[in-house]
Amino acid sequence: MAIEAVGTAETLSKMRALLSHVVPDAELQIKAELVAEINALKKERNALILGHNYMEPALFHTVPDLVGDSLGLAREAARTHYDTIIFCGVRFMAETAKILSPDKTVLLPAKEAGCSLAASITADDVRALKERFPGVPVVVYVNTYAEVKAEADYCCTSSNAVEIIQSLKSDRVLFLPDEYLAKNVAEETGKTIIVAGKEDSGALTVKDAGGAPLPAHDNGESDLIGWHGRCEVHEQFTVEDITNARAQFPGIEVITHPESSPEVVAAADYSGSTTRMVQYVKDSPKKHFLILTECSMGDNIIAENPEKEIARICSVRCPHMNEITLEDLLLSLRENVTEIELEESLRKRALTSVERMIAVGR
Ligand code: 13P
Ligand code: SF4
Repeated sequence: MAIEAVGTAETLSKMRALLSHVVPDAELQIKAELVAEINALKKERNALILGHNYMEPALFHTVPDLVGDSLGLAREAARTHYDTIIFCGVRFMAETAKILSPDKTVLLPAKEAGCSLAASITADDVRALKERFPGVPVVVYVNTYAEVKAEADYCCTSSNAVEIIQSLKSDRVLFLPDEYLAKNVAEETGKTIIVAGKEDSGALTVKDAGGAPLPAHDNGESDLIGWHGRCEVHEQFTVEDITNARAQFPGIEVITHPESSPEVVAAADYSGSTTRMVQYVKDSPKKHFLILTECSMGDNIIAENPEKEIARICSVRCPHMNEITLEDLLLSLRENVTEIELEESLRKRALTSVERMIAVGR
């Protein structure tokens, strides 16, 4: 949560009190001035700063008014009365805020801040799937762009995907684009799954449960049809990482995100959205954890729970989340960059699926 708008010296002493055990003092000294300026300008502009759990600690604990996972932040964006929302996260999150709050200025403090999952599927891909599987409802992960959400019946996040899939009264569901999330949801709900994708030529392929391509006239038999998108961060964690950690630190609690492979999720003690992971660590009586997700989240947890010891694999980072810096955030507030704009008919088409997402699991 943000620290109050005060001068640089006072800001630095507040930052030291919160973060001296996770951020080097030299870094705090450099960043205190930026934090003080951001908090002053934010007030002046009547702007709300939302911060995803993956933001670096010197930003996460000092400037966002609200922090959380994709679902929590989308809900906050929908109900805020501020004129401007600045999204410290990635583009699809800022777009979701704009879909819900068209009259507000929504800013992303980076030019790109993409996501490998959002980049894995286009609106044309969804249309091709709908043609091949006519009448099958489409659920898309929130990690997609507005054009893709506009083709969907429902949107979901990792914290309500299971509830949304279970609530649908259909024999089959297209669940796009994260192959691993879809497989993990299939596992949790006892459903069968096949996976579709796109060849280098652009042609749609649908594979059976064993991974063999099905002929064009054969749609296979499964409850869910997934897509071959992957999170470039969570796909890198392996069962071996977990086995090694358990061998080195007996009794360590292993926590992962459902964007990791089903094998990794099965080998872990807990899997959930980023906010659920944070909550799990806070609530657990245990002290030692391995957290398999973007490294900064571990720092953010330690900042608030100094008694916990958290192992991470910091060679695996999300380059998109890491595009958001305090420097760019200040520039964003000063110069209104980068403003998210969506064509109104597209926004309206995307709104239905997003509204359904934020309503489920309230
Ligand atoms: P959450 O919805 O769990 O915050 O996940 C967002 C994300 O991009 C994870 O990689
Ligand atoms: Fe996308 Fe993965 Fe980065 Fe999350 S961690 S924003 S899913 S690339």
